[in-house]
Parts: sequence; structure tokens; C-alpha cells
Amino acid sequence: MSNTHNDTAMDAYWMPFTSNREFKNDPRMLATAKGMYYTTTGGDQVMDGISGLWCCNAGHCHPHIVKAIQEQAAELDYSTAFQIGYPATFRLAERLARLAPEGIDSVFFTNSGSESVDTALKMALGYHHARGEGHRTRLIGRQRGYHGSGFGGTSIGGIGNNRKAVGSLLAGTLHFRDSVDLERQSFSRGQPQWGAELADDLERVIVTNHPSTIAAVIVEPFAGSAGVLLPPVGYLERLREITRRHGILLIFDEVISAFGRLGYATAAERFGISPDIICVAKGLTSGTVPMGAVLVDNEIRRTIIDSSPSGIEFFHGYTYSGHPLATAAAHATLDVYADEGLFNRVQILESIWEDAIHSLSEKPNVIDIRNLGLVGAIELEPRPENPSARAADIFKLAFDNGLLVRATADIIALAPPLIIQESEVSHLIETLGNALDQVR
Ligand SMILES: Cc1ncc(COP(=O)(O)O)c(C=O)c1O
Repeated sequence: MSNTHNDTAMDAYWMPFTSNREFKNDPRMLATAKGMYYTTTGGDQVMDGISGLWCCNAGHCHPHIVKAIQEQAAELDYSTAFQIGYPATFRLAERLARLAPEGIDSVFFTNSGSESVDTALKMALGYHHARGEGHRTRLIGRQRGYHGSGFGGTSIGGIGNNRKAVGSLLAGTLHFRDSVDLERQSFSRGQPQWGAELADDLERVIVTNHPSTIAAVIVEPFAGSAGVLLPPVGYLERLREITRRHGILLIFDEVISAFGRLGYATAAERFGISPDIICVAKGLTSGTVPMGAVLVDNEIRRTIIDSSPSGIEFFHGYTYSGHPLATAAAHATLDVYADEGLFNRVQILESIWEDAIHSLSEKPNVIDIRNLGLVGAIELEPRPENPSARAADIFKLAFDNGLLVRATADIIALAPPLIIQESEVSHLIETLGNALDQVR
């Protein structure tokens, strides 16, 4: 594909989570977007099979969201949220509280998933401190979990490559095992039937370190960045039971699972589980303006606020918390989700999506296919001499053939915008199928 760039600009930009050397030898550049499609700088159409990066749930450049952002930019560009309010942000908090599971009715604004996670971890510690259990300082995450790039999120995350060069990280972070056993779960349709007992590894970590030292457990309801790792039936329920029994907070990192990805406002709602804190971002503004939020059980908020007789109760926040532009984008995005019934659409599409993605099971090198809501993953046998290269080759070939997917290790992840039509599901699967056939 042709691209417009010069070598100095190529050199200046240090790209995130990218093989900079490889990219700069063979760049892929986008120019515009509309609905389900990007257009490259060379004029080629590329179907978006991953909602940008798990975020553009309403599709690209939705006119209602575009208009809201344009109008807001001309009306109020910035206002601090430290000691000053902007009414639309309060209304947004109220809207989000209504979408959250019962009992979660307090909202703290951030600018990203990473900030939401770090905020949630600090809230958990602050809560125990406020109720006189300041000895609960340990935080538990899960192997292969991804919770962003902040020091908190990296510490609690369980992906070795993200941790290898950054020293000892946050003290007191622990990890339990992930929810995957391919031998017993591969090619499951929807949630694997086997594996609820894998949650018991959490109990092992808690008991080994003594429950009274643990503040919170954080998990993604399904792990996305590590390659779509799904919770077996009954698994999340077990995590909830174990944490509750030991007085430990359960944080759901719903940065990619919220806002319709699984057919509901939150995965917590889909699974009927009440975590104490939910981290969101991405789909909150359909990726248009950076914004995250932490949705918190009111009891946690009240405990922290009541413990401080005067002055600032929670010494935490960001210059851009509740930014007016992001606020406008979020309101408009929530309008679109509701007006177009996009969460419900996913419930209707789910079985069509499931059949479509599982039709790739006989393709070369495929060792597992996973699906839930409008999420999918195809796991490939790694090349013995070069793990991850097969998925990377498929990613590049699919892009050249007009489809954007995400490759992590030897897993191809899919999460198209919730507006996808049935015919576009077929096109996506056919394009990916051709790439799987061609890459050996
Ligand atoms: C579950 C989860 N948490 C946190 C993050 C970090 O979000 P951000 O990149 O907006 O900081 C991500 C990003 O993919 C994520 O998937």
C-alpha cells in the first residue's frame, strides 16, 4: 500500500506496543474512517475487525458523536474538575451509575483504561485504610491479565513481556493462575463448560499470604489483550464468593468488556455478578476522545469520604478528569448505544457470529477458536522456530487484503464494531479464512 511520509517523521515517532523497526520498513497508514471501514492513505478500504483497538463500538465517525464533539469544542474547551464543576459531567456520572449494576452508583473520571485501573487500586487501598484495616495492602491480579501501562496496572498485570524490563514494580502484588486449559476447553462455543475450579487458585494465593493482608483482586471478566481468554461457566461466580468470604474487594477491569461487547452495558450485568468496583474506558466514548471512569460501590465512596472530617477526602485526580470534550463525546456515544439498540444487537448477532467464527476450525494451524458476545479469537500453533510470527504474518496479509485484526502472540483477536451487518460478518470471516489458508 502506498503511504505518504518522510523519513524524519518516521524516525521521530516512537510507536507504542509496536515493532518500530518492522513497521517503518513496511508502514500501514490510515487516513479516514466511516462506519465499519478505514481508508488508508493509499485509498484502500479496510474493514475494522477490532473496533480500532477494542474501542470504536459505535463504528467510526458517527454523525451524532461528531456533531457533539464539534459543538462542544466551540462552547467550552476545558474546565478543571478540581473544586469547579461542569454540569454535563455530573449528568454523565448519573447516566453511568444508571448503567452500572445495582449498588454501584458513584463515578470517578479518568482519561484511559490504565488510569482507571490505577485509580481503582488506590481506591481499594484507601477504603481499607479508612475503615481501620490498613494492613490490607496486597493486591492480586491474574496470570496473562492486562491492566494497562501504568506502574499499578503493569504490576498487577500478568504478561511477562510487559514486566521484564521494569524492575520490582509495586510491592505486594500477587498473581493467581489464568482460566485457560486448552486441552479441556478448546473449540468451546461461548463460555467453556469446564474450568470453574481454576478459580480456586485464588484461594490458594489468599491463604498463603493470609486474607487479612489482601485489599483487592482485579480481573478482566474475559482477558482481551492476552488473546481473548474466556471465563468458564461458574468461574467468575466463584471469584466473587471467595473474595466476599475474605472481605476482599473484587475489581472488574471492564475496559474492553463494557459498553455492549458482550451484549450488555457491563460484563457484570451479563454474568449477573456484582463486583465492588468496575473500570471502564474505550467504548465509553466509542474511542473518539480519551476518557475512562471508575464505577464504585457507594459504600466504598462513602467510607472514604466519611473518614475524612474536612478537606480533600481522596488525594487523587487528573487534569483532564471529566474533560468537557470527552464528556460530550460520552453523552453522544451513550445516546447512540441506546437509540440504535446496539447492546441488544450483539445479543441477536451472537449466535451468527459464533457459527461464522467456528467455520474456520478446519483452517491450517488452528488449535482453538473462542467466542463470546461480539468477541472472537483464533489461536494458532506457534512456529517452533519463531513463536508469534504466524499470527503477525496473518495480521499483515489480512490488512493488505482489507481487514484489520489484532495479533497477540499466536492469537488473532476479533471485536468488530457493534454496528456490523450479517453480510459484513461473512466478509470478515472469508477474508480472514483466505489469510489463514495462505500463511503456512
Ligand atoms: C482490560 C484492560 N485494562 C486496561 C487497559 C488499558 O487501557 P488504556 O490503553 O486506555 O490505558 C486495556 C487496554 O487495552 C485493557 O484491555
